[in-house]
Amino acid sequence: MITIRPTHHPFRHELTVPGDKSVSHRSIMFSALAEGDTRVRGFLRSADCLSTMACFRGMGVDIEETDGELIVHGRGLHGLQAPADTLDAGNSGTTTRLMAGILAAQPFSSRLTGDASIQKRPMGRIIRPLTAMGADIRGEKEPELAPLLIKGSALHGIDWTSPVASAQVKSCILLAALCAGTEASVTEPTLSRDHTERMLGAFGGKISTEQYADGSATARITPCDRLVSPGVIDVPGDISSAAYFLCAALMVPGAEILVRNVGINPTRAGILEVLRRMGAVIEEENRTESGEPRADLRVRYRELAAPDRDANGVLVIGGEIIPALIDELPMIAVLATQLPCRTVIRDAAELRVKESDRIAVVTENLRRMGAGITATGDGFIIEGRAHLHGAEIDPHADHRIAMSFAVAALAAEGETRIDGEECVSISYPEFWRELERLL
Ligand code: S3P
Repeated sequence: MITIRPTHHPFRHELTVPGDKSVSHRSIMFSALAEGDTRVRGFLRSADCLSTMACFRGMGVDIEETDGELIVHGRGLHGLQAPADTLDAGNSGTTTRLMAGILAAQPFSSRLTGDASIQKRPMGRIIRPLTAMGADIRGEKEPELAPLLIKGSALHGIDWTSPVASAQVKSCILLAALCAGTEASVTEPTLSRDHTERMLGAFGGKISTEQYADGSATARITPCDRLVSPGVIDVPGDISSAAYFLCAALMVPGAEILVRNVGINPTRAGILEVLRRMGAVIEEENRTESGEPRADLRVRYRELAAPDRDANGVLVIGGEIIPALIDELPMIAVLATQLPCRTVIRDAAELRVKESDRIAVVTENLRRMGAGITATGDGFIIEGRAHLHGAEIDPHADHRIAMSFAVAALAAEGETRIDGEECVSISYPEFWRELERLL
């Protein structure tokens, strides 16, 4: 249990957030499947990414850890070894779903599982396309839940249309096709994060993406004989981690934050657009575009007038932007309580199947702090101008909930206690130390 008291002192703080979680997972996976050694700089050493590392070590991949970088000794597209034990993805959906694609195409069988949360998360969304590719994959106890039993098979190509915009589903299919040496395409209703496509390109894979007028997108992979290490992967700072500090600066009068080296890939940076729609001014300094684009982000406190509202005076966040800020919605919901208007967040039903049911858990905890919030099937309705008060927060072991409410606590009256605060180690192990430094 951690106790947070509101801050009445305007802070000025400069920080670097740890490496991007999505890019860190993929850096291990692609480096392992490539020929040659890859040095990964800025790798996120959080519980989720360490799960991916342990799984690949379990399949014979030699990964050296030195100060500040990893060296992954690639085994080539066909070099993974049968794991001696069950592969444990811990709390990580990305590890589970992306690895399932790789495992489905291996010449060996495997068992893949994770913690209690992972064993509740929907796996039908990857079991269905993999099965359609000829894979032998099923849930051990329930047909569409982990633990997953995967018997490696010869897979064939597929043109899959996914009902949800999910980078994990898309990447699972692309990785299965890559390892099987077949063509495949994945069409999704809105473009989800494209780190897999970018990294595949950097390793010499053949991938193209087409985006259509209605916002849907197709990624297509064609077979390649081998992946070749680009030598170095430089992981940018995680915008999902930066989000807590950017929002903290917008909740405490007089505050200013500079977050250095943040990944601002357009398929991830939806929060910047939403903060601007709320009236924030975010300066992007030292922007670079190669590989994963990145910039230093500076925000100064200002009263958020939310000028960009609909005819009813409501700030609506929904549609195509949702996949680009899906992990930031708990933080955005907290910030919305401070706007001078009502906010409607919709088209975000995916929040129900994250590390926790984030629609239910955000609603429960914001109510405890005195906010007016209603859960809907696919989002929230949040009343503005809330006077938040301290409360006992139950994050349901969900890292993003714990961190979002730590920021809420900074602007609340009285003390807030967050139970099970160690869950931040899933994506941001130094979070509490950084917050303490800020205060
Ligand atoms: C991720 C994709 C997203 C995101 C998750 C990481 C990834 O999940 O919420 O935190 O690295 O591909 P979905 O693919 O389920 O939308």
